[in-house]
Amino acid sequence: MRPKICLPIIGNLRQEIILKAKEYANLPIDVIEWRIDFFAGYENEINSIIEEIKSIIGTKELISTIRTINEGGEKNGNRFDYYKVIKEIICQNVSDYVDFEIERDNEKFKEILELSKENNVEIIGSFHDFNKTPSREEIVKKLEKAKNLGCHIGKCACMPLKEEDVDNLLVASEQMKKSNPDFPIITMSMSELGKKTRLYGGLYGSMMTFANAGQLSAPGQVYYKEVNEVFDKLYSGKKHLFLIGFMGVGKSTVSRELKKQSGKNEIDTDAYIVKKEGKSISDIFEENGEKYFRDVETNILDELASYPASIISCGGGMAMRDINVKKMQVLGDVVLLTAKPETIYERVKGNDDRPLIRGNMNIEYISELMEKRRPFYQAASTIIVETDGKKVVEIAKEILEKSK
Ligand code: S3P
Repeated sequence: MRPKICLPIIGNLRQEIILKAKEYANLPIDVIEWRIDFFAGYENEINSIIEEIKSIIGTKELISTIRTINEGGEKNGNRFDYYKVIKEIICQNVSDYVDFEIERDNEKFKEILELSKENNVEIIGSFHDFNKTPSREEIVKKLEKAKNLGCHIGKCACMPLKEEDVDNLLVASEQMKKSNPDFPIITMSMSELGKKTRLYGGLYGSMMTFANAGQLSAPGQVYYKEVNEVFDKLYSGKKHLFLIGFMGVGKSTVSRELKKQSGKNEIDTDAYIVKKEGKSISDIFEENGEKYFRDVETNILDELASYPASIISCGGGMAMRDINVKKMQVLGDVVLLTAKPETIYERVKGNDDRPLIRGNMNIEYISELMEKRRPFYQAASTIIVETDGKKVVEIAKEILEKSK
């Protein structure tokens, strides 16, 4: 599902806050968060500002948040009586959501929860770590804590120190979503390093992304226009037919036949990359390295998302990256073609533009690599078609039948 886009308002003065609300009211976003901890005025003005923001933003939703210093907030926030203000906001029944920092759970929270039930306000149980990213298990535990406390939504924002932290946050989100499908979560990895979680977190279960429209309330928030552009492409509906599988399994040949039988457009990711980069796959591997090639593969999936329904024949490594798999699955059916190593060998032995097997052109090596990849291919696929001993016409027919 397309995640909601939220823009934060972070002004010090009432006037600035209201101006931002007016500006954001007309933007193509879904939610506005007022970060009360930036507000330099009096506590007793808070409710009337909320009232005014809500009257300006109309049908857009409003989150009211006091982020404390401990969790990355502004010092102004700590001047306010946290529980008193939160209770008053809930009883006011104007905000759609109120943030509650789950590390503060204590007896007082029960009362807050009761009030949120009486009023029509949802509690976002949030957890932030601005210094590091906890382990996957710990992230899941935090989100479970929000759920067990009775919050309506769980939120977890962490600072990645390395690429692996970003992936861990995504995997933890997916795990939480799988075990608690009805509990909404919002997760993000902060800073530039975590950018992909703000754009693609929805593919792992996050229901909202915090973007920016000039003002950032946390590092790494992406400009809302860019978020919308990515979402427009990614959530344009399931329509493509992705062909995945080992090199030489016959993706290109089957793709051509599928084009004939279905009348759909045909795109080959390797050919698309060669054209885009202006050099052969072998040269890209040699001059830019495999990681570069893999990044291009990941990025072009966003471009291909906006094409009309097509048959997309993927390079053999496309399904090795989880983010690619998530993108393909949200955009259509993922068809795995399989064949015996012997068949593969016969098909690829005369071709020199496959850097991964060049110099290792034998059945043993091919079998080994195929075995390594098998679990990835299987997990990625929504349809599996064996090709050994079948005519191309039959294979294409089978695919079209199974993908109806
Ligand atoms: C690769 C397969 C190739 C090409 C690149 C890497 C792989 O595509 O993308 O050489 O990792 O399996 P084909 O499967 O079309 O040969």
